[in-house]
Amino acid sequence: MGKVIAIDGPSGAGKSTVSKLIAERLGFEFLDTGALYRAAALHLKRMNMREESPDADISRALHGVVINFKNGRVFLNDEDVSDAIRTTEAGHYASVFSAKKAVRDFLLQTQRDAAVHNDIVAEGRDMTTVVFPDAWKKFFLDASEQGRAKRRYLQLKEKGMKITMEEASADVRERDKRDSSRDIAPLKKADDAVCIDTTDLSLNEVIEEVLKAVNKTQ
Ligand code: DC
Repeated sequence: MGKVIAIDGPSGAGKSTVSKLIAERLGFEFLDTGALYRAAALHLKRMNMREESPDADISRALHGVVINFKNGRVFLNDEDVSDAIRTTEAGHYASVFSAKKAVRDFLLQTQRDAAVHNDIVAEGRDMTTVVFPDAWKKFFLDASEQGRAKRRYLQLKEKGMKITMEEASADVRERDKRDSSRDIAPLKKADDAVCIDTTDLSLNEVIEEVLKAVNKTQ
């Protein structure tokens, strides 16, 4: 089992960018678990699954499905879905379906397998609490609601998507409420996670904070 740096937090707190760069700096692999949930949700939508669908139907729909990463791209049964999973709609369905036990069970082993032969930086909502409770280092990245909405807005704009600041704000608010209040593996700060508020910090400052905490207790 490799070393795991586990990073959780709400949407728009900057987890992906920070995790990717920390992984690069330390020579670790980067595991974007949100991408796994987004790809699974895309598949379930295509299979006409709905929020109300029973777990047994969802499990059946996911049977034999392979989601993996190659050269930083995300593949759903060999189809490159890297762009398709980045829309606000895909994020919405990822949040909806991620509350289902069948989906979380389906993705659990894939996530743990990523650390079997590699040191990884894993980011998501339950990395520190459920998937890697014994992680080498744990972090919780947070930011004000306004700061998170702004970051999400800029990210989607940069990808060329049509979105207003109000829509970005509604997206993070709605998803975080659902992700934090669900019964299974809700988003919450682990007692032993280092909390970093990224609202007023630059990307470099956040990375320095994380690296400082990693080095301090090495
Ligand atoms: O990090 P993201 O925005 O790409 O995640 C999309 C959704 O997937 C998020 O709203 C909740 C879900 N998710 C989850 O439940 N657990 C994770 N470890 C990662 C994401």
